[in-house]
Amino acid sequence: MKHFISTEQLSRELLERLFCLADQIRNHPWKYSEILRHKVVATLFFEPSTRTRLSFESALQRLGAKLISSENAKEMSSFAKGENIRDTIRVIQGYCDAIILRHYDNNAAREAAKVARIPIINGGCGSGEHPTQTLLDLYTIYRNKKRMDGLKIAILGDLKFGRTVHSLVNALSLFQGIEIYGYGIKNLDLQTEYVSSIQSKGIKYHPVSSFEEIPESIDVLYQTRIQKERITESTNFSYIIIDRKIMSCFSIDTLLMHPLPRNDEISEEVDEDPRAVYFEQTENGLYARMALLTEIFTENEGW
Ligand code: NCD
Repeated sequence: MKHFISTEQLSRELLERLFCLADQIRNHPWKYSEILRHKVVATLFFEPSTRTRLSFESALQRLGAKLISSENAKEMSSFAKGENIRDTIRVIQGYCDAIILRHYDNNAAREAAKVARIPIINGGCGSGEHPTQTLLDLYTIYRNKKRMDGLKIAILGDLKFGRTVHSLVNALSLFQGIEIYGYGIKNLDLQTEYVSSIQSKGIKYHPVSSFEEIPESIDVLYQTRIQKERITESTNFSYIIIDRKIMSCFSIDTLLMHPLPRNDEISEEVDEDPRAVYFEQTENGLYARMALLTEIFTENEGW
């Protein structure tokens, strides 16, 4: 794997190797602290980010790489002077050994990869995909459940524009016996193209419109915020809110996940619940991204 653009590129073996590597890095960080010593990596972010950019930057520093960064590239890079993404990449690749790109355009990472001679990592592009979020989501599930086959997962909230959801459902199809319950906000349901694609790969998809239709023993509730920045119409969408009362309807083994940031779709009163693992997810992101970077640079030795 040279670039990491989509969860379509993942295999079960690769995922298992990354989980294992992430655990090793967590347990023996000093063994990995020099592994990218001679590398310079760029983070190029055209959209806001806290977790993705800072966890990647921390991951890079902890692996010994040096960093160059444009955190507000929409206003502060040559994009503001009319430069297209291909030219920006053609230039930046002369300064570094890999680029982590976040962009508002669904195809930006793919476009970048077409012209890049160095690895491009998709840090979230438009409403399309956010594959490195999926790595940490699956790593979190794996650490808590110790299995991936036979999982039942409810995806909630904005399933239409939520890129984390798109990457996640794609990747889940690598496992056996997966069932997904889709509880989308009205008019923000999972698009037919995704539903058909995952069904064709063997996932059972159940669209639902209330918590009562989700089995009490569900393994994971994956809540998401409304992607307001991608919605042009002035509709007031009715939120699906998870509070203590909702959590009391689910089993003691049901994990509550969220890619974050949250607005008010998970009440803060739930944070104390041991089943709420969204802050654990963010921390796992550091190790999952360290594992991915190690894998990419080892695979592309000589880049
Ligand atoms: C997500 C994103 O940017 O898509 N955030 C993240 O990277 N953890 C989710 C979101 O913004 O809602």
